[in-house]
Amino acid sequence: MDWFSYLVAGILVYVGVAIFILGIAFRIYQWFKVKRSSVKLGMFPKPKNRWARGFKLFKDTFFYPQVMGVDPVMWVFVLLLHIGGIAAFIGHLRLFNEFTFIANALGDEGMARFAAWSGGTIGIILLVSVTYLIMRRFKSPYKDLSIPEDYLLLVLVLVILLFGNHLRFFGDVHVADYREYIHSLLAFRPAFPEAIVESSTKWVLVSHVLTSNLLFIYFPFSKLIHSVGTFASNLVRSEV
Ligand code: HEM
Repeated sequence: MDWFSYLVAGILVYVGVAIFILGIAFRIYQWFKVKRSSVKLGMFPKPKNRWARGFKLFKDTFFYPQVMGVDPVMWVFVLLLHIGGIAAFIGHLRLFNEFTFIANALGDEGMARFAAWSGGTIGIILLVSVTYLIMRRFKSPYKDLSIPEDYLLLVLVLVILLFGNHLRFFGDVHVADYREYIHSLLAFRPAFPEAIVESSTKWVLVSHVLTSNLLFIYFPFSKLIHSVGTFASNLVRSEV
């Protein structure tokens, strides 16, 4: 591994993951320290019992119907972005361990084809959603309400996706070689296997990891922390 790759795809990954976890823990600690309101803050229509409250919490957190009422087109793209994000996260778990139950059922070639189709589709869905959300911010009234952070975050995610999709569509590295790199990180001895060092997409991988690490570091201090805070705020919104 050359020194730059070692710094970015080695050391910075540990820094990124540590700041991501500790940063989120710190933000949750800060929320717990805030004095509880003596007034019930639940919004109408109030749920009738605990089950209804649980259902409302689930619905508001994962399907945000408030957004659908205001802007249905945006709601569709935001939903696609979130579903795509979760699917991409699940897809990346294959870099740690093979999904043996699927691989056994499909065989090696079938699995490679399945990964290419599912990964490619998810990558495109994410790219289209983020592009829409960026374009939307260039139009009034959203433009007038946007601050630089809104653009910065979307552009950062867009760049990560462009590199990720490049790896998926033009990469010449087998998943087993990516896995060897991830396992070297887990063993605290970061190294690229020969196949990555010699591949034409090594620098795309390093750039994908670099931009992802920037996102991990920024995440707890940006508005993306809403993905954690939304549970608490929806719990308050559904107070009876
Ligand atoms: C350090 C963290 C990350 C590493 C090591 C990593 C690694 C990779 C690798 C090796 C691929 C190519 C997979 C293949 O062709 O077999 C890939 C693809 C991709 N990555 Fe990442 N990635 C990281 C973070 C992220 C993040 C944070 C996002 C989203 C915001 C993301 C989105 C994607 C997408 C959309 C693809 C293409 C679709 C797919 O193959 O799943 N990655 N990534």
